[in-house]
Formats: sequence, structure tokens, C-alpha cells
Amino acid sequence: MTHATSEQMATVPLVDVSAVGATDTPLQQAMRLARRHGPVFRRRLHGTDRLFVTSLDLVTELADEERFTKHVGPALENVREFTADGLFTAYNHEANWAKAHDILLPAFALTSMRAYHPAMLTVARRLIDAWDARLARGTAVDVPEDMTRMTLDTIGLAGFGYDFESFTRGDDHHPFVAAMVRCLDWSMNKLGRDPDADHTAEDEAFRADAAFLATVVDDVVGARTASGDTRTDDLLGLMLGAPHPADGTTLDAANIRNQVITFLIAGHETTSGALSFALHHLLKDPVALRLAQRETDELWGDDPDPEPAFEDIGRLRWIRQVLNEALRLWPTAAAFAREAREDTLLGGRYPLRAGEGVTVLTPMLHRDPAWGDNPELFDPMRFAPEAEAARSPHAYKPFGTGERACIGRQFALHEATMLLGLLVHRYRFVDSADYRLRIKETLTLKPDGFTLTLARRTSAD
Ligand code: HEM
Repeated sequence: MTHATSEQMATVPLVDVSAVGATDTPLQQAMRLARRHGPVFRRRLHGTDRLFVTSLDLVTELADEERFTKHVGPALENVREFTADGLFTAYNHEANWAKAHDILLPAFALTSMRAYHPAMLTVARRLIDAWDARLARGTAVDVPEDMTRMTLDTIGLAGFGYDFESFTRGDDHHPFVAAMVRCLDWSMNKLGRDPDADHTAEDEAFRADAAFLATVVDDVVGARTASGDTRTDDLLGLMLGAPHPADGTTLDAANIRNQVITFLIAGHETTSGALSFALHHLLKDPVALRLAQRETDELWGDDPDPEPAFEDIGRLRWIRQVLNEALRLWPTAAAFAREAREDTLLGGRYPLRAGEGVTVLTPMLHRDPAWGDNPELFDPMRFAPEAEAARSPHAYKPFGTGERACIGRQFALHEATMLLGLLVHRYRFVDSADYRLRIKETLTLKPDGFTLTLARRTSAD
């Protein structure tokens, strides 16, 4: 442990929010606390304290893998109730983390992205068909709802060869989505519980939902095993059949179930939010939208229904910048936690015990002074190559950090860039509801009730 004199030790502001009680927007509440109390503060809720940090210098330190590692904090402990030792919620020391990570990594290599591209395009076209039908009827589209349909079908088809058929269910989602959202909501709400209240009914409802998720997973796995298909070139194939590169063992049945639930959730919920925020910003920023349309026109000409090649997606640089910037302002998995490997002083002045959790509040890190004078401004130029090269890599962490960072990042970005490219190429967006951004939290972030109306692009647009 590094020693510091008592003068060097800093006092961390302690903010007790128990009087306000549980809120359904805890993340936005924490952002307000950071604005008011600065980049390091301790939040107390019903006797439980949590340390938050938001500044680039401290996050840079927390990203040092020699001194810090992922912390499975209270939110993920709750999610563990239904994903157990799946990749996202596994403890660092659990043998199944390293084992599954090694076995599943090939599913996220560049060659695999190439293999997923056709399934991603198939589902993007389902969304476009649904949006064409809305356009023909002149009715608005509910953006987050349709993005969720799109991303669930994509991870289902590309990762598991399983079709959730989300666009043929009318206004309903696949019941997996409703059960999953309730499970995530339960995990979030449990964080702010009044310890004296009775939560039996909520807990029973949660158990029923978690059991339902498991039956969907059994269907997904059962469909593959019944087909006699032994491919190992997608996620499910790797989970079921691939031996560990070092010791030749495969994943056990309980862990496979945890991984399938993990990937079905992690693989769609956050990407859906990211696409929704990106569309929101494009709707409100005609210049950024114009540049996006120009980029797709250069690639696909005036064909409203192009056949994007795998390589095209890497050429949609502006659209990728739009997505990056949307994820800067609203990183849809908006916090991650770190813990010290040994007792230490963070920033040379905040004592931390080994194993003690620290939450990085990503949306506030993304508004650090390193981002300039007007961090609230949506400006995709922040992700121009020169601007990126001039900035610390630790200023931007929508996908977490280090060894436990998001394994699905390229998957999400390929899928989202392609869909956004196809949408801006085909439609004009009309802000018929004069939408004002409100953010809904269900552990992840989404623009609440965001709708828009579509019009066909003409050659003059
Ligand atoms: C981990 C964000 C898409 C699968 C993470 C973490 C973040 C994140 C912040 C780290 C959490 C922590 O440190 O506790 C996002 C965002 C996405 C996205 C913002 C979309 C825009 C995806 C997709 C998949 C995926 C598409 C799968 C196909 C995972 C998994 C982990 C993870 C399995 C755990 C990795 C490990 O600990 O080994 N993600 N994610 N994510 N993500 Fe993503």
C-alpha cells in the first residue's frame, strides 16, 4: 500500500439520498450528484455506501489492470441471480470466466463478423419492411421498440441460428423481451430497496421470469441439438462443442445455459439503445444527418435498396462517428465497477481497500473537461481520427475497460452501423411528435417513448 500523510488524504463528499428513497432513474440521479459534488463522491442509500468517480485522471488509474480489476458490484450481483457465472457476471476468479472467454473469443474475430453479416442484413431488411408499412400507413414508428426487435432477432439468428421472429408479432415483443426487461428492472430496483418493506411478491415474480428465460434458452439449445447440426462457427456451436484450446474440456450444461441467457441479453439490449440514441441525435441535427446521407449516397448511389457488402460497413466512417458520439453522451451500459487488487490510494489521496468497489459513471467521464467546453453538444467530429489521436484512450469507455471489456463490441458496431446506414439512405425522418429526450432506465438506458415519422427520400433530399 502506498502511504500518504493525513494532510494528503482527501475527504470524499458523502451524500445521503435515503430521504429521496429509491428512484426509477438512479443513473441520472448519480449524474446530478456528480455535477453538484464533483468527480468523487460517496452515495449513501439506506445505510449502504457506494463510491463513484467520473474524472479522466482517476478513471485512467482505475483502468490500470496491474492495480485494478473488474468488480462485480451490487447491480451485477443482482443480475447474477439469473445469469450466474455467465461471462458478464462471472467473478474474475471463477474458472468458468477464463474458460468461456477463451472458447468464445473466436466468435468475435473478424472472420466471424463476416459470417454474421448476412444474418444482420436479413434482420435489417425486416425492420425496413416494417418501417415501409408504417410509412405507407402514415403512422409513426416507435424507435426503441423496433430497435429491440431488430437487435434481438440479430443476436438470435447470427449467434444461435434461432429466429425470434420479432417483426411478425404485431405490437407484441417475444415474451423473452418482457421477462428480461422485468428481470433487469428487478435487479435495478433491488438496489434502492427499503430494507424494512416486504418484497416477497416482487421476488416471486422475478423467480417466475427467470425460470421463463431459462425455458427459452432450453428451446434455443434444444432446436440446435435436435437438428443434429454440429457446426462450431457461431456462438452456440462454440458453446456446445468447442474444446478449450489449452485443456480440451468443453463448457458444462449449467454454464452453457448461463452463457446463452447472458448473450441474448447483453447481445441486444444495449445495441438497441445505442441505435435509438443515434437516431434521436440525427433527427435533431440536420447537418449530421445530411453528412450521413451523403456518405451512403457515395457508396450506394441512388439505389434505395442496396446490398451492402461486408467491406462497405467499414467505409461508413461518419455513421460510425455518429454512433460513437451517441454512445459518448448516452453510453447505454452506463456504469461499470472496478476494485483494487491490493489496498491502495486512488489518485494518491483516496484510500481503497483490496476488493472494495468503485463505480465509474461513464456518462460523466464522457463529459470530463477533456471533451472541451461544450460536452453536452452532439458533435461526431469528436471522433475524427485526428481528434481521437489527440485524446486519452481512457476518456471514452462505453464498452468498459481491460480484460473484462465488452467482447461484443465489433458485433454491435457492425450491426448498428449497417442498419443506420440503410435507414438514413432510404428515409427522411420527420420529428412529428416534437420529441424531447427523456431517458428510461432499466439498468440500461433508452430514449423513452421516442417516435418519429418517415418519408421517402427524393433525389432532391
Ligand atoms: C461486457 C457495453 C454490446 C456481450 C460489456 C461491458 C460494457 C458493455 C460496458 C463491461 C461491463 C463491466 O465491466 O462490468 C456494451 C455496449 C454495447 C454492447 C454499450 C452495444 C452498444 C454487446 C454485444 C454483445 C455483448 C452485441 C454480444 C454479442 C458482452 C459480454 C460482456 C460484455 C459477454 C462480458 C465480457 C466479460 O466480462 O468477459 N459490454 N456491450 N455486448 N458485453 Fe457488451
